[in-house]
Amino acid sequence: MSAAKVTVELLRACKAAGTRIPSLTTYDYPMTRLLDEVGVPLLLVGDSLGMVILGHPDTTHVTMADMLHHVRACARAKPRALLAADLPYRSYETPDQALANARALLEAGAEAVKAEGGRSILPQVRTLTHAGIPFIGHLGMLPQHVLEEGGYRKKGRSERETAALLADAEALVEAGAFAIVLELIVPEVAAQLTRRVVVPTIGIGSGPGCDGQILVTHDLLGAFPWFTPRFVQPKLDVATPIRQAVTDWMAEVRG
Ligand code: KIV
Repeated sequence: MSAAKVTVELLRACKAAGTRIPSLTTYDYPMTRLLDEVGVPLLLVGDSLGMVILGHPDTTHVTMADMLHHVRACARAKPRALLAADLPYRSYETPDQALANARALLEAGAEAVKAEGGRSILPQVRTLTHAGIPFIGHLGMLPQHVLEEGGYRKKGRSERETAALLADAEALVEAGAFAIVLELIVPEVAAQLTRRVVVPTIGIGSGPGCDGQILVTHDLLGAFPWFTPRFVQPKLDVATPIRQAVTDWMAEVRG
C-alpha cells in the first residue's frame, strides 16, 4: 500500500514533532517520479528552471507559460509529495494578478504556490490565503531581485537586516503562509528565525538550523556542472557518466 499523501497539515506537524523536511526542486515527469519514489515530502517546481532547464542567466526570464508547462509535466507523476510551484517574476505584482496566476498553477496541478518577499507582498499573500491557496513564503536572498541587487548576497549580516527578516517572517505567518524558504541567510539568523515562527522554515544556503532544507536537484546530482553554488556538496557527478556513455556509444556507432 502506498504511503499517505503529504499535506500542508502534515508538513506543519513536522515542525511540532521536530521532524526535518528534505525538499528538492523538480521540473519534469521522470525526475518527479524518481524523487517521489524515494519519499521526498516536498517538491518544488522552482523558477530555477530558468537556469538549469532553459539556459537563462537568472530567474527573471521565466514566464507563467514556462511554469505551467513544467508544472503540468510534474503533476502527471501524481506524486505523494506535496507539489509546490513558484509564481515567476512579475506574475504577482497586484493581489488580483497573484490570485489569477496562482489559480492557473493550481489548475495545472500544483498544490501550493511560493512567491518571494515579505511585507512588500502582504496584500498578495493575504488574497491567496483567503482564497484557500496554500502559500509558501521566501525570504533572504530573493533571486527574482538579483538584477536590482547586483548579485546573490547573503542576508542578515546587520542588525537592521535581521530585524527586517524577523518582521517579514512574522508578517508572512500572520498572513497565512504555511512554510517559509530562507535563502542565503546568515545561519545564526536563520536559526533564530526558525525558533521564532510557528511554521516550518526550509533553508537553502542558510545553515543547519532550519526545519528543512531545499536544494536545486541539478546541483545535488551534478547535472548542471558549469555552476555549483558554494553551499552545495553534490552527491553525484552525473554529467561525467553521461558524457562517457554517449562517447562510448558514438564510438560503437562509428565502428
Ligand atoms: O526556484 C527555486 O529553485 C527555488 C529554491 C528555493 C530552490 O526557489
